[in-house]
Amino acid sequence: MFKSLIFRSVFLLASVTITNSAIEGKNIKIETPKTSMVLDATKEKPLKFLYYGTKITDNDANNLKTAGTPNVDAYPAYGFNLRREAAVAAKHADGNMTLELVVDSVWTTNNEQSQTHTIRLKDTFYPLTVDVNYLAYHNEDMIETWTEISHDEDGTVELSEFASGCIPLRYGNVWLTQLHGAWGNEGRIDSSPLTHGLRVIKNNDGIRNSHFAHSEVMLSLDGKPQENDGRVIGAALCYGGNFKLVVDTDEKDYHKFYAGINPENSHYHLEKGETFITPHLALTYSNEGIGGVSRNFHRWARNHRLAHGDKPRKILLNSWEGVHFDIKEKEMEQMMADIADMGGELFVMDDGWFGVKYPRNDGTQGLGDWIVNKQKLPHGLKGLIKAAKNKGISFGIWIEPEMINANSELYDQHPEYVVKANNRKEVYGRGGSQMVLDLSNPEVQQRVFQIVDTLMTQYPEIDYIKWDCNNMGMSHGSQYLPADKQSHLYIEYFKGLESVLNLIREKYPDVTIQACASGGGRVNYGILPWFDEVWTSDNTDALQRVYLQWGNSYFFPAIALGSHISATPNLQTYRSMPLKYRTDVAMSGRLGLEMQPNEMTAEEKKQTRKAIEEYKSIRHIIQQGDLYRLMSPYDGLGVASILYTTPEKDDAVYFWWKTEAFRNQQMPRVKMAGLDPDKNYRVMELNRIDKKPLKFEGKVFSGRYLMDNGLEMPVGYDVDTDKRTEWGSRVLRLTAQ
Ligand code: DGJ
Repeated sequence: MFKSLIFRSVFLLASVTITNSAIEGKNIKIETPKTSMVLDATKEKPLKFLYYGTKITDNDANNLKTAGTPNVDAYPAYGFNLRREAAVAAKHADGNMTLELVVDSVWTTNNEQSQTHTIRLKDTFYPLTVDVNYLAYHNEDMIETWTEISHDEDGTVELSEFASGCIPLRYGNVWLTQLHGAWGNEGRIDSSPLTHGLRVIKNNDGIRNSHFAHSEVMLSLDGKPQENDGRVIGAALCYGGNFKLVVDTDEKDYHKFYAGINPENSHYHLEKGETFITPHLALTYSNEGIGGVSRNFHRWARNHRLAHGDKPRKILLNSWEGVHFDIKEKEMEQMMADIADMGGELFVMDDGWFGVKYPRNDGTQGLGDWIVNKQKLPHGLKGLIKAAKNKGISFGIWIEPEMINANSELYDQHPEYVVKANNRKEVYGRGGSQMVLDLSNPEVQQRVFQIVDTLMTQYPEIDYIKWDCNNMGMSHGSQYLPADKQSHLYIEYFKGLESVLNLIREKYPDVTIQACASGGGRVNYGILPWFDEVWTSDNTDALQRVYLQWGNSYFFPAIALGSHISATPNLQTYRSMPLKYRTDVAMSGRLGLEMQPNEMTAEEKKQTRKAIEEYKSIRHIIQQGDLYRLMSPYDGLGVASILYTTPEKDDAVYFWWKTEAFRNQQMPRVKMAGLDPDKNYRVMELNRIDKKPLKFEGKVFSGRYLMDNGLEMPVGYDVDTDKRTEWGSRVLRLTAQ
């Protein structure tokens, strides 16, 4: 299955069937189950964009030009009469700065999952071509677009703009929704109307790209975004490096969206005969509001873009917040015993287990030396793996393979491996000594592959890898790339990372791998084909997680979002919260624990054991189901609520979390969504802590009633006085009868 995910493009090429080669004066209709995109590819003319939206008939498509469609290029080139943004700009080998691209030929490639239309544009004078590709899935409302640029000029062509795609939107009231944030506060939602000029969202880092801004956006075509109504385009640049998204709103209020690698620090010198392939830009459209777009992204991710998107994720305990760097064999075994006893399925040993000359006791040293520290783990990884096996759980391990500390044996031997600008000092990140390894260098790529290969060869039982990345690109420079290719560093870095990950996945297709980058620094679709999930944040505070997971759910499915119950008071926000609330939030994603369980009381362990057992019974609904967001924490109504249903709508899980607490506060009654109005659902509370069941426990309600009215959630719990807190949350299972 991996091959079809990772080597998808190779796979496609293997089954090419050319259905036609040159269409003159005919519209191209790109189709998914519910959407159409239409282009005018008239030979010898610029490629024009006519439509993207709800599926239309051939007749409508042919009449589009008479219906008031603006005259806009599908891939605007710099050079002639282009007063606005360009998708592509190049300096030819002779210094000429202009491009004049017209349609040369069109062909279609089919395979069992998708159909790709390629429109070859050629320059009217120079031997330079741009293939603009649109891949439409047969079973998903998703179109991926990207371009391939090549030339046969005598010399090098310098590319200064090379967007993956351009989508003209419409005139007037369009809103842009993006995620922004900071470390520990990732995935916050920002929605605002587009106004004249440029709206730019970009990343300059090249190594990590989602703490501060994301390469996914939603564009609401009917004004202010609605959860379940209105036309919305979702766009995700599938790239793990430096990106630039732009919306250009012209003097007539017309908006155009561009997305691609950020060319500002990555001008590319294209050699004669070389092909520059841009990352894919995934596009989806729904007239069911931003919720519809989210569900389209989630299905596409599970079926096509995420490693093992169809496989249930294990319930795990991660050692980080429990012991930090203080790894000791006895504690690891105790943690394994505890998680196994509570019904968990996997234990992950985090940072701190390695380094001999430079033991990894804190963030200052050891990265690069992936050798077990026998002082901490006398029986090595073998001992731990054996212990995990005895307890009936799997074993996972933390690594940070792209990084190095100045205090490491690897650095003693190879100082030239680090990312560093010539004639400049090294720039240190975490721990005052961490640097990034230069993955543009094939020798370094080989080393990084060997880290995983050696671990997996010696310990084939390793079931899960947490792949961390705690440094950003702090110094633009490669000691490997030649002077004229220094601006290629970030592009070559990501290519290098891709080839390492390809090698790993070819040899170890089954291991689960989490992408972590100081929490949510690598939450994007460029990374996900090789990874099973992401760690969205180092912030595990349950209230903040309601917001954080809400934002991430706009684009990413629950199966890919690690969500852990942590200790109280929380280590990042110092907030104290009852276990019930922490559990009810963590259960809405890929459930795990992040604490030292020997600090839990017997009662808390019992409660967690029950929650884990109940999660197992609903795991398929959360991890494979359709998400309906019901009440947003951002609306400040005191409550946030979501619901997952199976695609058949015969089983659902409803989450309700209080987000604020005031005396005599009137809590809104939340209407459900996504159920079948004609089905009848029996209600059962999960994670119950009340002495007596809720009044509606075991009662049956129609989907119509639940969606029109919802159920009134009791604000307090029926528990002893000393157990009362200001927090409140409920999880209900709704099973069709
Ligand atoms: C940052 C990660 O986000 C944490 O979960 C943890 O793995 C630390 N790094 C370890 O250094």
